[in-house]
Amino acid sequence: MSYISEITKETWYHAIFPEWGTWLNEEIDQTKVEKGAFAMWWLGCTGIWLKTENDTNIAVDFWVGRGKWTQDWSKYPPHLAGPDFQLNRMVGGRQRFPNTRMIPVVLDPFEVTKIDAVLVTHNHRDHIDPYTTAAIHNKFPDVPFIGPKFVTDQWIEWGLPESVVHTVKPGDVVKIKDTEIVVLDSFDRTVFLTAPRSGPLAGYCPDDMDVRSVNYLIKTPGGSFYHSGDSHFSNYYLRHGKQHQIDVAIASFGENPPGLTDKMTAVDVLRMAENLGVKTIIPVHYETWSCFLADPREIDVLYDMRKERLNYQFTPFIWQVGGKFTYPDDVCKRHFMFERGFASAMEEEPNIYYKSFL
Ligand SMILES: [Fe+2]
Repeated sequence: MSYISEITKETWYHAIFPEWGTWLNEEIDQTKVEKGAFAMWWLGCTGIWLKTENDTNIAVDFWVGRGKWTQDWSKYPPHLAGPDFQLNRMVGGRQRFPNTRMIPVVLDPFEVTKIDAVLVTHNHRDHIDPYTTAAIHNKFPDVPFIGPKFVTDQWIEWGLPESVVHTVKPGDVVKIKDTEIVVLDSFDRTVFLTAPRSGPLAGYCPDDMDVRSVNYLIKTPGGSFYHSGDSHFSNYYLRHGKQHQIDVAIASFGENPPGLTDKMTAVDVLRMAENLGVKTIIPVHYETWSCFLADPREIDVLYDMRKERLNYQFTPFIWQVGGKFTYPDDVCKRHFMFERGFASAMEEEPNIYYKSFL
């Protein structure tokens, strides 16, 4: 038997996926959060892992699924590719949403060693998945799963016991160890177009946003983080900003094709930050799908054009999936970079043929 004769698709899956192995699991485990701070990592899309100074670990929109995987459209369920799919409804057409996943899975849900709560903003398939749900619940059977009604209904349908599932709505406050989670209004108009109701929508009154989607303000002892899910721009951000001290927020940004607005534009992101009164605004979600890819440097350019005239008091932070953000240390940072390594370069004599190689 040769080495390559034993290689199959299954051995490839097992050896290579998830691409980051347990690299990020280990980084999170090893991170000690200073007093007066909190740390968070970007898991891709709007997925966030947040860790507090007292080692409270909270996952929001932790998702390890994928988008389109075949061009044979008959293989997709109708709610993901038929005329009742929300984006098809929005553009009134028979267009297809060619969303292949652009980012690796950076955190292995089956290798999580510590978690205190799972939060989900809404039930779209890039924010919730059965794999993460199973991995966390089967290992940590008492960990609470928190979300609006449509999300908790999904978890119960998948088999989570009702005892760990907590339905929340704006105005609710949930205490998780040293952290308070304030549930706030969502402004995700796309989620309204998602089934159920099938067929023509005109003439029907939609149900309440609060049962479909929520935003979260996560108040740690070291600062607060506003998770806006897939919310669009809303004037009501100003109200949230006046009612709460918000230090850092994420904004779902993306490049919208003609005829469709599903993600915030660069100006929306800046206006959101100004309305919320944050210190740092972080665009997310623009990297998730092939068809919505956007360049976050657009936010940088507009910010630099506008900051003096509008007296901006916040900083936009361009992150990377798998990267860490620490509040307050990174509050004025503009761009993330991974550890570059080689810190001890040239502390010893290099082992080369002769120095002119250098
Ligand atoms: Fe999304």
